[in-house]
Amino acid sequence: MWEADDSVDLWADSPARRPSAAPSRETGRFVTGDLTSEDLDVERSLRPQKLDDYCGQDHIKQSLRILIEAAKSRGECLDHVIFSGPPGLGKTTLASVVANEMGAQIKTTSGPAIARTGDLAAILTNLQPGDVLFIDEIHRLNRSVEEVLYPAMEDFALDIVIGKGPAARSIRLEIPHFTLVGATTRSGMLTGPLRDRFGISFRLDYYSIADLADIVVRSATILGVQIDHDSACEVASRSRGTPRLANRLLKRVRDYAQVRGEGHIDYPITREALEFFEIDELGLDWMDIRILETLVKTFRGRPVGLTTLASAVGEDPNSLEDVYEPYLLQRGLIVRTPQGRVATPVAFNHLGIEPPANA
Ligand SMILES: Nc1ncnc2c1ncn2[C@@H]1O[C@H](COP(=O)(O)OP(=O)(O)OP(=O)(O)O)[C@@H](O)[C@H]1O
Ligand SMILES: [Mg+2]
Repeated sequence: MWEADDSVDLWADSPARRPSAAPSRETGRFVTGDLTSEDLDVERSLRPQKLDDYCGQDHIKQSLRILIEAAKSRGECLDHVIFSGPPGLGKTTLASVVANEMGAQIKTTSGPAIARTGDLAAILTNLQPGDVLFIDEIHRLNRSVEEVLYPAMEDFALDIVIGKGPAARSIRLEIPHFTLVGATTRSGMLTGPLRDRFGISFRLDYYSIADLADIVVRSATILGVQIDHDSACEVASRSRGTPRLANRLLKRVRDYAQVRGEGHIDYPITREALEFFEIDELGLDWMDIRILETLVKTFRGRPVGLTTLASAVGEDPNSLEDVYEPYLLQRGLIVRTPQGRVATPVAFNHLGIEPPANA
């Protein structure tokens, strides 16, 4: 419930105040570096529009096909959906795929961009029936804003308190039926009440090399470059299970092939390019290596707390946890213990260092 005393023009159509999506949290240098405007343009052009173009995540696609077809045949909106998983796996892409498949308009915003309850009320009252409202980083909504969302999701209504003190009364305003699509890299940070209001919840997993190779081939076709199967697999195998990185590596290999090769991408030039850009066989970039070296060499395999590790490698703890750690954990290079992060024998071997006897 929110109070209508902070903003008179809540009900006005005010697109200028509509928050836009917050920037990605990725940090780092090359592979996991910030998205440049060129990256964003290319990402847009490579982004699948329909479920058929979306590679991998077969279980999610099959489920969505059924749920979307059922909702459409009843002439209803799709139930609210939440996508969770590490950065770059295709959550934003799926949100627009859902809207396209439903034949609906998508309105996009993000948790940190909705600072006040009035901002959300303005967004909700401006929706058209059947719209998809996409809230990226939904775990970062503040609590009072989240409370406005509850009746909106459940009853398609806004509860407004008019006046103050004993004279205050509450009125309920209907809003159009819509589908909320949320995305989060930190599903653990969602509050219970918010999580419970999503009828559909999907967790995206890292992609297999075969699925990433399909993405690389698809993207190469869109970019107008030739790539053979072995080269696509090589790019895929160094992409940390992540489509965004597969696309980014493909673009760098394309650049390299254009300057040092003959334009088309073959296997020797792919390997040369990946070596040149310092992407190792597991797809680890210099920051991943720095994290591993810190754990292995500086702390000699002892457990290290997140903030200590973050300051040792010069990275923000949130980025470390959201961007770098999930893949290192998934590859079994590090483990999380109650005492802190620990390098595993796999990490020692990868760096060519003998693990300590007790590891
Ligand atoms: N399944 C897929 N098939 C083909 N391309 C994909 C797929 N998933 C993602 N991509 C590509 O990867 C890029 C990044 O995906 P997207 O922006 O949807 O990730 P995200 O999960 O929203 O990341 P973040 O958490 O950083 O917001 C997209 O532009 C798209 O080109
Ligand atoms: Mg996204």
